[in-house]
Amino acid sequence: MPSYLTLPNPPPELMRILAPTGDRLWLVTSRRLGRQVLAEDRFSRALAVAPQAPANHPLRPEPTALTSLDPPDHGRLRGLVSHAFTPPAVAALESTLRQTARELLAGKRAADLVPDYLMVLAATAICRVLGIPWAEQDRFSALADRAHGITPCSPEESAASREELRAYVAGLVADGHYEADTSLLGTLRLARQRDAALTIRELASLVELLLDAGYETTIGQTSLAVLALLEHPEQWRFLVNRPEHVPGAVEELLRYAPVVPISFTRVARHDTELAGERIRAGEAVLVSLLHANFDPREHPDPDVLRVDRRTARHLTFGHGPHVCLGARLARLQMRIALEELIRVAPHLSLEADPADLGYRPPEAVVRGPTSLPASW
Ligand code: HEM
Repeated sequence: MPSYLTLPNPPPELMRILAPTGDRLWLVTSRRLGRQVLAEDRFSRALAVAPQAPANHPLRPEPTALTSLDPPDHGRLRGLVSHAFTPPAVAALESTLRQTARELLAGKRAADLVPDYLMVLAATAICRVLGIPWAEQDRFSALADRAHGITPCSPEESAASREELRAYVAGLVADGHYEADTSLLGTLRLARQRDAALTIRELASLVELLLDAGYETTIGQTSLAVLALLEHPEQWRFLVNRPEHVPGAVEELLRYAPVVPISFTRVARHDTELAGERIRAGEAVLVSLLHANFDPREHPDPDVLRVDRRTARHLTFGHGPHVCLGARLARLQMRIALEELIRVAPHLSLEADPADLGYRPPEAVVRGPTSLPASW
């Protein structure tokens, strides 16, 4: 966890913090206030990406990206991609993902679950959503791994892979070389035929955003979930005996081990009040999703992982207009990954001390182990 998120316990609901950029920000730590900031129009994303806005990260997001827009531009762009994440669209991926999970585990008694299982499952999911041709999935995921620094490589190699990926995706959109018209790439191409104002570049950057938002996050989240269960063998045994509890366990694991600990910043449009504090126009507010998930006002014993918890309400996918578009897909992947592991590997155990595992660097946006050597 970034050190500026190490707070007194219990933290006040709202406080001033100094970000690593040197900017002062408001930090929200309760679920109640977090939901307000993420949902209410008085806090803007578009103002938060302006060059002079206070920031918690030196990298400025692209101002035309989906995550950087306010209504009505935001709704228009989100509408272009949201059909790929409807309940029927996501449910249609279940059999492919389950078959992939089964093939990956078949005949094995040991594996490094991050590269050999969870990463392949995440790559399959994102490629199927986008409509990357099956024959090119390995090439696409190798490029994506380097572009996102998932495969260790130099910053120059990573930047070169990002460029190559961008050109490859733009090519797929331009010449219609994708798996199905119902895939995201297919629909974006149809949208362009209807609206000539949409450029290939805009469509390719939408695809890039989905990859940025949905690939590394899902790998990190499924890895954190499996690690949490390996560290709580009694909870693993409970699920082995009661696999029908996996969907509820997924919610509790999302609460207990959120892969993205903080939201993007929002900036107050005008002077306003929050939890009795005056927030001035132009000041930035950050929501600690992690602290909201451990809010003692919401959860009895928040530090305890209890996979049969009835109300594992969390902010792991955010809230409001920018709530995670891929949440349904991420939940499906977590459920399948766990159900198949439980079925094949009821005696799963970690072959390393959790302290010795490789982890993503603390400054990374996404948390999680990079390796989970396990046997069964
Ligand atoms: C378990 C894995 C995931 C987690 C924890 C996660 C978390 C989040 C969070 C917290 C936000 C909102 C940030 C904010 O408002 O400040 C978000 C937005 C988003 N997520 Fe996810 N995400 C995950 C997986 C995915 C997947 C699989 C996809 C798509 C393939 C995806 C696509 C998006 C998009 C497009 C947005 C921006 C939505 C908008 O601005 O309207 N995410 N995600």
